[in-house]
Amino acid sequence: MMCALFQQEHVRLSSGVCGTNKRTVCRAAKLDKKTHAHVCIISKQCTHPKWGILLGRLDGRTANFTGASNLPSSFDNLTVLEKKFRDVRLNTVDLVALSGAHTFGRAQCQFVTDRLYNFSGTGRPDPTLNSGYRAFLAQRCPLNGNGSVLTNLDPTTPDTFDKNYYTYLEVNRGLLDSDQILKSAPEAQGVTAPIVDQFARSQDAFFKSFAHPSMGEIRCNCRKVNDG
Ligand code: HEM
Repeated sequence: MMCALFQQEHVRLSSGVCGTNKRTVCRAAKLDKKTHAHVCIISKQCTHPKWGILLGRLDGRTANFTGASNLPSSFDNLTVLEKKFRDVRLNTVDLVALSGAHTFGRAQCQFVTDRLYNFSGTGRPDPTLNSGYRAFLAQRCPLNGNGSVLTNLDPTTPDTFDKNYYTYLEVNRGLLDSDQILKSAPEAQGVTAPIVDQFARSQDAFFKSFAHPSMGEIRCNCRKVNDG
């Protein structure tokens, strides 16, 4: 899911040399119906932010197996996350803004239990986790419980696309470690933490950054990247 939605970010088009080439766009859509399905899910679920979506997806200009298998993990530290985003030409603002997709959806307990019971091998909970939220999560995800049980990524508005993901990071109620470190990690200070602060203050700023066009293109000829 994360992977498809991650690609979804790159489906957005405002204009493009080949944006009106319907045959090319449709062929891409057939190749990647799964991604398109996620586009529909996002468009239906939220009233904002809005951006123009043509059917299909943007083709990468390079292909590489290692890159495709090197997706970000919720157990990555901030330096690794930044690098993985940078490797696909997404910057620090993109990292914080796109992580805001966790304003809706759920995650399995297996991604949270380390934070609750054995953070970084300490045998203790993650000190950046709000104690009330930790108690709530411990009920939902007991030690040695079923790791597939789902819990909301956004504690109160899990089905709404809003800025609450960030307001919860401000009060140490991010669900995944990769969420909370954007605000709380020592190396986040002066880097990603101020961006979290900005999005927590301004939903408009979050929506604009989330919908800001990024890399990729629609190919004129499916066999090669566009000239220029
Ligand atoms: C910083 C990089 C990211 C990491 C480490 C990450 C990690 C995760 C994890 C571990 C889950 C829970 C999966 C599960 O329990 O099976 C999840 C769910 C989700 N992620 Fe991410 N993610 C990242 C970025 C993104 C991006 C860029 C998007 C979209 C733009 C996104 C959208 C979602 C959504 C919507 C869900 C909920 C899925 C559902 O409810 O079925 N994530 N993510």
